Amino acid sequence: MDAKLILNGSEYEFPVIVGTENEVGIDFTKLRSRTGAIGLDPGFGNTGSCTSSITFIDGEKGILRYRGYPIEEVAESASFEEVCFLLIFGHLPTPKELFAFRDQLTHHSMIHESLKNFFEDFPPTAHPMMILSAMVASLSAFYPRSVEPREVDLNIVRLLAKAKTIAAFSFKRSIGQPFVYPRNDLSYTENFLHMLFAVPAEPYIVSPVVDRALNLLLILHADHEQNCSTATVRVVGSSQANLFASVSAGISALWGPLHGGANQRVIEMLEQIRDDGMDYRKYVNLAKDKDSSFRLMGFGHRVYKNFDPRATILKKAADEMLAELGIDDPLLEIAKHLEEVALEDEYFLERKLYPNVDFYSGILYRAMGLPTDMFTVMFALGRLPGWIAQWKESREDPAARISRPRQIYLGEALRPFEPLDLRAKSPEGVPTEPELVGV
Ligand code: CMC
Repeated sequence: MDAKLILNGSEYEFPVIVGTENEVGIDFTKLRSRTGAIGLDPGFGNTGSCTSSITFIDGEKGILRYRGYPIEEVAESASFEEVCFLLIFGHLPTPKELFAFRDQLTHHSMIHESLKNFFEDFPPTAHPMMILSAMVASLSAFYPRSVEPREVDLNIVRLLAKAKTIAAFSFKRSIGQPFVYPRNDLSYTENFLHMLFAVPAEPYIVSPVVDRALNLLLILHADHEQNCSTATVRVVGSSQANLFASVSAGISALWGPLHGGANQRVIEMLEQIRDDGMDYRKYVNLAKDKDSSFRLMGFGHRVYKNFDPRATILKKAADEMLAELGIDDPLLEIAKHLEEVALEDEYFLERKLYPNVDFYSGILYRAMGLPTDMFTVMFALGRLPGWIAQWKESREDPAARISRPRQIYLGEALRPFEPLDLRAKSPEGVPTEPELVGV
């Protein structure tokens, strides 16, 4: 199959690549060298930046699969460690592989004591996403950059294992409690909960309900193909930057409110609606108003144009978890009402705007006892195996090149440069101050 392009009367043929699920892409690798033109696609809504074997999404049908496995089945039966292994190494682990992998993740959980000292100097108000990004970048100062596969795999394990310790320490720092060290007898998720919530004076017993919910949340966030933060990780990695630096950049990209930062904004929005008398219609109207910058946070998605399967799973999980823990969170009811009102509105239906993964996740994080500014950190921890898998895949791809998009320049045409005459004197004989513009 070929695609034909007619430009200025000349006809060009380009190869077409068809994916496993019959997705069609026109291979424009040689577009510029053959035609002199580039493709212009702000926001990359139509641009495939790579081929990948990790995650498949069909946004029209609400399908998400990790390495071919449906998200619903993975979420139902897997542990987060298995999902990490699956995404990163391409196949489900054998029992022996899983045991060894878990053991490695446990034994690399400690962070260097010097790294621990870094936490002390951040202001107490520092956002934990900023701390996570800085700390992950700092890991490259402690562990050798290597392209040798065994060393790369070891750094992958170090990153997965230490990120949860860093995240838990940043939480403890933000609430002024002493750090709690990881324990070798606990699973990945149990260990994380222990480091988050244990206090030295009391024994901490991990609640199986909370552990199950955390496992589910991490799995549902584990990968989502070429989203903003993952594309960032690939772009940074394409310059051959090391794993820690590339993932740190991904964490920064995730922080934005249109991406992972939306989970924090959803709860803030629901609280605002609660405090404002629960006038759902007012907020739905505000989100439709083109003169207002307000959007319904946790609604809409670049790829999902039907429903986000992760949101469906999380809505059910929020109901179950709150019931099991005996928590009555009015924000869950507010979220459901808001969803109902929005989904009856022509504006949302026409634009195919449905709740996304961030709409209900915050309700579960709240029930776990996490403050809102930790929510995006939780997303980042979940997304870690995806970033790592995508970084690894791109590093191993013989066709990969440095990411370097083009642009169409719309600025001034060529004009002569006229230097300022700084020798001109004011009437008092003092050199004239150049005017400060735009300050
Ligand atoms: N509330 C109101 N209007 C919206 C919303 C929303 N949440 N989302 C999109 N629209 C409108 C938008 O104004 C535009 O309208 P029009 O066609 O009249 O100009 C139309 O829908 C298409 O929106 P878009 O901004 O072109 O869509 P996009 O694909 O560029 O953006 C998005 C996707 C997720 C950034 C956007 O839907 C949004 O801002 N949602 C709120 C933030 C959010 O929940 N982000 C989390 C995304 S899921 C987790 C993850 O990051 O992976």
